Amino acid sequence: DRIGQAAGRPAPRVVEADIRDRTAIHDLMERSQFDAVMHFAGLKSVSDSVSRPAEYFDVNVGGLVTVIQAMKSNGVRKLVFSSSATVYDLGAGQGAIREDAPFGPNNPYGQSKLMAEQVLQAQEAAAPDWSVGILRYFNPAGAHPSGLIGECPADPPDNLLPYIAQVAAGQRQYLGIFGDDWDTPDGTGVRDYVHITDLARGHLASLDALERDGHGHVVNLGTGRGLSVQDVRRAYEHACGREIPFRILPRRPGDVASCYCDTQRARDVLGFEARQDVDAICASSWKWVRHLYPEVSPS
Ligand SMILES: NC(=O)c1ccc[n+]([C@@H]2O[C@H](COP(=O)([O-])OP(=O)(O)OC[C@H]3O[C@@H](n4cnc5c(N)ncnc54)[C@H](O)[C@@H]3O)[C@@H](O)[C@H]2O)c1
Repeated sequence: DRIGQAAGRPAPRVVEADIRDRTAIHDLMERSQFDAVMHFAGLKSVSDSVSRPAEYFDVNVGGLVTVIQAMKSNGVRKLVFSSSATVYDLGAGQGAIREDAPFGPNNPYGQSKLMAEQVLQAQEAAAPDWSVGILRYFNPAGAHPSGLIGECPADPPDNLLPYIAQVAAGQRQYLGIFGDDWDTPDGTGVRDYVHITDLARGHLASLDALERDGHGHVVNLGTGRGLSVQDVRRAYEHACGREIPFRILPRRPGDVASCYCDTQRARDVLGFEARQDVDAICASSWKWVRHLYPEVSPS
């Protein structure tokens, strides 16, 4: 309902089903006659993927295969896929990451995303009428600017923005920062935070490109700018008008100093450029948090 409200259109129809349920997914495609599929469903916690790898491959790879098979039997030939920067060997270098950078996911989540990409590319190679847009997200963040739609993680968030948001809302006491001795300007990890409304525009641009070009693409989606944990924490303080306390904790295994994307291909292939900055990300997140926790005072 809130998607409809935010978009000023009738709310989209929702069918709840598991992507591994062949019958349900096949029936849905048969009934709906889709022009294209945007495939977001998946499991995404790096730490969970280490303790429950089989489940991650089952959903992220097996579930995708079910979707492809249902598309095949129902004449749907275009798919936009949520991939991730975790497919890259993030330890390999410090500069902007291009799409032809070496692969090297160091956890089952990233491995499942890379396998999913390979399944999609094999399908595309086997059937010339297929076109697939593989979008490698960097760090999606923020909420819809209306404050109507945002994220509400059930478990302690793995991602920075929802964690900071919970501290700002008084749900957590402090932000734990994993290391302040990285080789970055202020010693905290640097990442590329892309506003979810920019990310959404990237998906529409991907779909347009599939229609226009008749073939697929693999594209990074990010801003091309790296921000440190402390940069984001201060930007959030500015947005919410309150202090975000923090504590420096030991580094997390598998983390890297810096990761941000090269945006050239997104510009060339999709005509895509991120428009929103970290202030817009934090302001939209804070608006959503106040919707989520109405008891939180404005500042
Ligand atoms: N958020 C990020 O930082 C990030 C970064 C890169 C890529 N991605 C990818 O983007 C996609 C969306 O991520 P998100 O942040 O919105 O995650 P999310 O966890 O908020 O959303 C994923 C959705 O998939 C659904 N899902 C999981 N297993 C399913 C199954 N078997 N059948 C049907 N639905 C199932 C979940 O219920 C959830 O609604 C994922 O594929 C994720 O891997 C996310």
